[in-house]
Amino acid sequence: MVFFGVKMADFVKAVLAVVVLRLLQSAVSVEAWGADGHHATCLLAEPLLAPATLKAVRSLLPEYAKGSLASLCTWPDDIKWQHQWRWTSPLHYIDTPDFLCRYDYLRDCHNEYGDKNMCVSGAINNFTSQLTTFQLPLDLAAPYLMTKHDHPNHYNLTEAILFLAHFVGDIHQPLHVGFTSDAGGNTISVHWYKRKYNLHHIWDSELINTAKQRFYNSSLSVMVDAILLKIGGKWVGETKSWGACANHGISCPDVYAAESISLACKYAYRNATPGSRLADEYFLSRLPIVERRLAQGGVRLAFILNRLFAQTSDSLINQK
Ligand code: ADE
Ligand code: ZN
Ligand code: ZN
Repeated sequence: MVFFGVKMADFVKAVLAVVVLRLLQSAVSVEAWGADGHHATCLLAEPLLAPATLKAVRSLLPEYAKGSLASLCTWPDDIKWQHQWRWTSPLHYIDTPDFLCRYDYLRDCHNEYGDKNMCVSGAINNFTSQLTTFQLPLDLAAPYLMTKHDHPNHYNLTEAILFLAHFVGDIHQPLHVGFTSDAGGNTISVHWYKRKYNLHHIWDSELINTAKQRFYNSSLSVMVDAILLKIGGKWVGETKSWGACANHGISCPDVYAAESISLACKYAYRNATPGSRLADEYFLSRLPIVERRLAQGGVRLAFILNRLFAQTSDSLINQK
């Protein structure tokens, strides 16, 4: 099996090399969908990037990121409350009709004012499209990239890659494609072991947090390495189909969103009615879903970035 010109055996070797390297490093905790979910998605993608992709990604990152996409994967959450970025808040999720358990781009992808494309799948389409202008020959890029002189608001591809990496993570959190009336579980209050949280927060943070503490020595990097081993192991036969998009698409967020609302109905909302107590039975049956969604998010982010950057501009143009 060939994975972006890399043979599968080499791919598995590369994944194992990264895992061994990380295990040799002391158990440095990377820090607390929540921050951990986004760090995990980006950390999973990084070892799967082709060399040319890594070079392009690094050229877009600010110097203080020190070459690490993961270090800035939460940036869109950090800024969404600021006045000038408030318009990006609805880009983190999709609200679908209550109990339908289906997603439809034209019906569901809008903000509260009904502006079309203002949701997480619309944002992934938009930032993917912006990034296709990276290093296009100037004459071909002209319709997309206007000179600073004439049009000061030409695309900022640094922001575009940070938004893309973040939103590919968000769209894989099942409750980021949830029901409208409960705002993706945000208004459903439940008990998580001995504490009270809303259901959305449990899926953003607490499932990962409890897993980290119970199974991964309280370290996100240990958890990420365990998921990387599964990507190169029990899921290796599925990774290519996870990464693929129909019709030569570079990203295919409608597929990721449809999976999320289906998982939200089957696992997140099920047995999590307001006031219910969620503990081991819920945790142990949902953790495999969380780990698989983190893996799919990481693998898909890597495939998307490889399609964007690990090619000549010529083949990029031909794809459009
Ligand atoms: N706010 C409204 N709906 C939401 C959702 N599905 N996820 C996160 N925040 C939301
Ligand atoms: Zn977000
Ligand atoms: Zn969330």
